[in-house]
Amino acid sequence: MKLASIVLAAGRGTRMKSSLPKVLHQVCGRPMIHYAINAAKMSGAEKTVLVVGHGAEEVQNYLGERVIYALQQEQLGTGHAVQSALPAISEDYDTILVTYGDMPLLTEDTLQKLLQTQAKNSGPLSMVTMISEDPKGFGRIMRGMDGSVVAIVEEVECTPEQLSIQELNVGAYCFDAKWLWQALKRLPLSPKGEYYLTDVIGIAVQDGLRVDALTVTDNQEALGINTRVHLAEAESVMRQRILENLMLEGVTVIDPASTYVESSVRIGMDTILQPNTFLRGDTVIGENCVIGPNTIITDCQVGNRCVILAAVMDKAIVEDGVDMGPFARLRKGAHLGPGVHMGNFGEVKDSYLGAGTKMGHFSYIGNATIGKDVNIGAGTITCNYDGEKKHPTIIGDRVFIGSDTMLVAPLTIEEDAKTGAGAVVTHDVAAGEVVVGVPAKPIRKSKASE
Ligand code: UD1
Ligand code: CA
Repeated sequence: MKLASIVLAAGRGTRMKSSLPKVLHQVCGRPMIHYAINAAKMSGAEKTVLVVGHGAEEVQNYLGERVIYALQQEQLGTGHAVQSALPAISEDYDTILVTYGDMPLLTEDTLQKLLQTQAKNSGPLSMVTMISEDPKGFGRIMRGMDGSVVAIVEEVECTPEQLSIQELNVGAYCFDAKWLWQALKRLPLSPKGEYYLTDVIGIAVQDGLRVDALTVTDNQEALGINTRVHLAEAESVMRQRILENLMLEGVTVIDPASTYVESSVRIGMDTILQPNTFLRGDTVIGENCVIGPNTIITDCQVGNRCVILAAVMDKAIVEDGVDMGPFARLRKGAHLGPGVHMGNFGEVKDSYLGAGTKMGHFSYIGNATIGKDVNIGAGTITCNYDGEKKHPTIIGDRVFIGSDTMLVAPLTIEEDAKTGAGAVVTHDVAAGEVVVGVPAKPIRKSKASE
């Protein structure tokens, strides 16, 4: 078998009431199309063709080279959309999987079962169905005497009797390629003026060929996102799935209802997530950490054994054994070395703090490189900005910065130096020197000059 997959995403998504293409609306931090593409690829497709139309450029910008694109110029229906993918798929592909881009919850598992169903089917296609008492919006499945599928009737075209059918079209199909390409040419124009992919079932039946169906047990998989109400439903299901996976991998989640972890985040064993924690983007958290409560971490790397309480962190690196918060803020380029302690109301941006350095209270550190075991007194500020440019501050190992010191950059303070409380340091300080006052002057010479 040589398998290609077609994912449909050309529709306008009118019911979203949005200027953003429907498939770019996010579910747990990633555009919903990400999940559909992923499931298609994981199911074993050697080639994935995404049919784009409305908002094509934006969708292509997001996905880049992850898929091959086929443009559906006019959105003339799902059958027409599949037809637009034909030129992108060479004849050696004998099996075609078709899914819709607005179904982020459909799993690769189900797609694999669908492939197995079709492998056993004597006919040219198999599809996925579900049983639901709330059939609204779905195509209804008609079965024949022998149990095979004989038609899908779109909701708008259902008779009152057909409307009460509880078996529904999920929107995932597996086809024999040769048969599909010729059947698409025979699709009738629907009363709505579209070519429905679902009408290929009728064509198979006319040809006397069997259509098989795989019925899902978890109806959540079938959620197609047509409105923002569906979007919120998908978010909630996906969030639960992500948290359950984490829990099964050894992460403690104290309160799943108030914990938000995006699908891209990785977390090590025995880490505990406290309530009201948000972990987003390319975030990796190590083992044995305690994160939260009340913490937002985006695109950060956090080592093992870190304790992070009520912090907001973006694009930062935190090494093993760091203890942060409450009310700590790491901005882009902050890097805390092993065992750093950062207490309440501190902010670090574009700076490195060496191993064991302590910054307990009310400080701002920006554009600084700080050595090991430095004590940064309460209220210390790197005055890194002169109104036009940012300037660096360099602080050596074991320096003691007294409370409320203003470090006017560019500035270098060499190792073992000290500043007095309230000092405004405007000139470099030599190793071992003690400076005090405004502007700060030495009261003890450096070791070198003694
Ligand atoms: C479709 C099915 C319905 C099924 C339901 C499951 C058809 C005709 N109907 O209805 O039986 O129960 O999904 O959610 O297939 N698209 C294109 N080009 C087009 C039209 C649509 O690429 O010209 C894409 C859309 O972007 C979307 C997908 O196809 O990703 C499905 O289209 P949508 O309009 O959402 O179909 P439904 O009305 O949900
Ligand atoms: Ca849909």
